[in-house]
Amino acid sequence: MSAQPGAETLASGTSTGSVEAPTETSLNLYRFPALYDTLKAPDAEDIAAVRGLITRFVGEPRWSILDPACGPGNWLSPFAGDASLLAGNDNCPEMVEYTRANTGAQVTLGDMYAPPIDARFDVVLEASGVTSIVPDVDRLMLWVRTLGGMLTQRGAVILLLNFETPVPPRLPATLWRSRWRNVPGGKARIHYELVEDKPGVQHIRRSVDVRGGDWPQRIVEDYELRVWPGEVLDTLRQVPGMRLLACADPEKAGKFNAAPSGARLLVFQPDRA
Ligand SMILES: C[S@@+](CC[C@H](N)C(=O)[O-])C[C@H]1O[C@@H](n2cnc3c(N)ncnc32)[C@H](O)[C@@H]1O
Repeated sequence: MSAQPGAETLASGTSTGSVEAPTETSLNLYRFPALYDTLKAPDAEDIAAVRGLITRFVGEPRWSILDPACGPGNWLSPFAGDASLLAGNDNCPEMVEYTRANTGAQVTLGDMYAPPIDARFDVVLEASGVTSIVPDVDRLMLWVRTLGGMLTQRGAVILLLNFETPVPPRLPATLWRSRWRNVPGGKARIHYELVEDKPGVQHIRRSVDVRGGDWPQRIVEDYELRVWPGEVLDTLRQVPGMRLLACADPEKAGKFNAAPSGARLLVFQPDRA
């Protein structure tokens, strides 16, 4: 699960106004949801890992699912066949419009910290690592609590966190590069590099190259990404009213107690004792 490089800054997640498509370097990939959708679509292993957690902790489908920062809905679409309700929320109007049109989900425009949604969900899922833009652990705890208040009786909050891992000896270093993928009218690929590593924060460069189609040919963005120290896992066990039930390595299905290093899927449920 290549989630770490996918999380973005708040600034890069906010966009307004009309979209031009010139060749320049200051563009925001979120303004081009179809590109993001294709380039960041989760693979079968990622989807199986999340499905396994939902089945284990929530129960059998059908599930009502909310992604509070849904982007193009690429973590909603895989569960369309299992869902009684798909819902998304995002603060980027282009993402909201795209996800409404392409996933059948009910999508709201709003802040992930307080999604403007009056419904309850079996699953609140954010599996791409948007937690790396949460400013600190207190805010993260508050968010988990807020999302916990949006659950049905059997529901669970599943969030991906990027924990600190050993840093490559030489920077910049490639974190992940996709293969060329088909996009309308052409092909595109995405490349994530770790440019600088500071305590708790990484400087990431994301480049998208496109050949053909009515797209900018290159989009380059630099942003800071939070990586959580392993101790945060213990802090998250103290979220009032919530229980941390699993810290799962997406690459090791069926194990729920992984060490906090790299991308981990955390499962929370309200303390029903
Ligand atoms: C890394 S993408 C994740 C998309 C989706 N959850 C997925 O799994 O692919 C981050 C998304 O979060 C959105 N976002 C960033 N900050 C947000 C906020 N405060 N409230 C709502 N959406 C936000 C961005 O607009 C972007 O679409």
